[in-house]
Amino acid sequence: MTEIRLPEMGLVVLVGVSGSGKSHFARRHFRETQVVSSDRCRAMVADDENDQSATGDAFALLHHIVRTRLRRGLLTVVDATNVQAGPRRQLLQIAKECDVLSVAIVLDVPESVAVARNAARADRDLPDHVVPRQRRELRRGLRSLQGREFKRAYVLNGVEEIDAATVVYEKAW
Ligand code: GTP
Ligand code: MG
Repeated sequence: MTEIRLPEMGLVVLVGVSGSGKSHFARRHFRETQVVSSDRCRAMVADDENDQSATGDAFALLHHIVRTRLRRGLLTVVDATNVQAGPRRQLLQIAKECDVLSVAIVLDVPESVAVARNAARADRDLPDHVVPRQRRELRRGLRSLQGREFKRAYVLNGVEEIDAATVVYEKAW
């Protein structure tokens, strides 16, 4: 069982392909107000969680909320795919500016699981190539994510490990 140890305040970045269960995981382990979701931000600026033309504005809003919360000393969880290094770097830069620690939690599910879950969703209609592409991006970034990028990175492999994980908070880091 993986015990995810988090600082009482800092940045938590969820990482995983669409359908890996990030939003589900966030709901299970964190308070609603602690979670900043790119889909919610997209909805707030476009009235539609799937409007890709709103991505730039949605992430500007997400970064603004993350920066504001971190400055105010609040634990902040980013619910977005974060499979690409560029978006992770932007979040890490904000954490650095705010002088707080960053932890990544990677939800790594088999492609078949993510694809089957997405197919059953009313809120997603993804082209077939999206999940395989996101998985390739994730694979490419896994090593630097665990080594260079984050102070700590937890990689949960498969549905059972994700299900069994627990979160604890530590004062001293
Ligand atoms: P995107 O927002 O598209 O990036 O996906 P996501 O990673 O946030 O996935 P989400 O948490 O929305 O999960 C996708 C679907 O899988 C939802 O219908 C969830 O109910 C389901 N799901 C997520 N995690 C689990 C899990 O641990 N067990 C089961 N049985 N279903 C899950
Ligand atoms: Mg989600």
